[in-house]
Amino acid sequence: MRRLVAETRIHPAQLVLPMFVAEGLTEPRAISSMPGQVQHTLDTAAREVERGIAAGIGGVMLFGVPQHKDAVGSGATDPDGILNRATAFLAERFGDATVIQTDLCLDEFTDHGHCGVLADDGSVDNDATLERYADMAIAQAEAGSRILGLSGMMDGQVEHVRTALDATGHQQTAILAYSAKYATALYGPFREAVDSSLTGDRKTYQQDPGNRREGLREALLDIAEGADIVMVKPAGLYLDVLADVAAASDVPVWAYQVSGEYAMVEAAAANGWIDRDRLITESLTSIVRAGADTVLTYWAIEQAEWLQARGLSTQGMPDQGLHGASGARP
Ligand code: PBG
Repeated sequence: MRRLVAETRIHPAQLVLPMFVAEGLTEPRAISSMPGQVQHTLDTAAREVERGIAAGIGGVMLFGVPQHKDAVGSGATDPDGILNRATAFLAERFGDATVIQTDLCLDEFTDHGHCGVLADDGSVDNDATLERYADMAIAQAEAGSRILGLSGMMDGQVEHVRTALDATGHQQTAILAYSAKYATALYGPFREAVDSSLTGDRKTYQQDPGNRREGLREALLDIAEGADIVMVKPAGLYLDVLADVAAASDVPVWAYQVSGEYAMVEAAAANGWIDRDRLITESLTSIVRAGADTVLTYWAIEQAEWLQARGLSTQGMPDQGLHGASGARP
């Protein structure tokens, strides 16, 4: 009966796994702020993508961790840069079986850690950054990325990148716009994951956590500029923004359950303070309930494997108490 009247279901295809691929590693390196997540080598990344395909997830979102950084983020546009190399490597092997996607932002590649290039006064130069994003987009499309995740929050980035892609024969490459991206403490663990060199903050380009209306406005602007998908990020603390965007959008709406959301659950669970598996499913159910068509989550494979083991039904999932101490029957 509970399954029959359930309002929200999660399907593995709605889950996308963010993955870190680091240059110069011979073994995967653990990310201490995100227990269970690693910086991958190309080979371990391939094994993880295989596991994701077997679990039926929708795709993977790649982040690159370069060894060398500079002021303009040269590694981002170099076809031999780690992100482009990993993309080509994985797209060639798995491009027909899953959707290889890439983060399009300069912060992993710049020595100052900002998402763009800097003006003489040290501020982020929006329009000069757009030129870098256009080159980065072409490099990623040529490496085989199917969806470019524009996460830099520069004004006009969607239109600029779309124009550059179309002019170079990449009409089929889709744009995922991180539209409503908030300046949040929840990105903290990610900074270790990508060896970020940022000092200061991103408040001149990411949004104020208190601004709900602005989140919707940013999403509508991105749709008008040609975004194929819009995203709200973080997810769990921004469900009101997500619901607003989902109600107004005529393109798919995604949400990113970010590193801090992951770390809080893992830390509490490691202390024995919370029912980890149940909370993972509950958090993802809540994000889908609020309006996300797809969720980027570090638990993508684990959640998809639980779903598969249960015949793609969230009934009997940890949120229904079957894994809990209660031992309730279905
Ligand atoms: C920018 C980017 C960030 C995240 C995804 N893309 C970091 C930032 O904006 O500071 C954060 C993801 C997470 O915390 O899981 N390249």
